[in-house]
Amino acid sequence: MKILFVCLGNICRSPLADGILRKKVTESGLDAEVDSAGTAGYHIGEAPDPRMIQTAKNRGTDISFLRARQFSQGDFDAFDRIYVMDHSNYGNVVRLARNQADEQKVSLVLELLGTDSEVPDPYYGGQSGFDHVYDLLDEATDKIMESLH
Ligand code: 4NP
Repeated sequence: MKILFVCLGNICRSPLADGILRKKVTESGLDAEVDSAGTAGYHIGEAPDPRMIQTAKNRGTDISFLRARQFSQGDFDAFDRIYVMDHSNYGNVVRLARNQADEQKVSLVLELLGTDSEVPDPYYGGQSGFDHVYDLLDEATDKIMESLH
């Protein structure tokens, strides 16, 4: 199973989801590949936002080694499931879908928690936004782990 998380910049939300799920997969010994990407190219090659790195570190997750990249159409071939953080990401990813099979791989990550709500972008806010994003993605990645067993 190959799982991709997508947000806008690939420096806050999706690298966090990537790091949390990678850790859970590694600890469980399951065979799954995890990655993340951004719909925008502003931060290509950059490490995650220092505030997100610190928030993750405080909770025992290292994301400092991840580097931002931009989502591309080839990701529909490389991944089985593509989880996006918000409706804007959804539109930007689905716009690149070549067929229904591509489109069906894409879903809002919080649908895993039974809602169609968004993982809020913490970029312009304070620390509580980063902690909230961690809580949401910790819970959502637990659901992904359950689905991999
Ligand atoms: P992310 O957050 O999509 O969770 O990585 C953002 C990071 C950077 C920007 C926007 C959102 N930006 O506009 O640079």
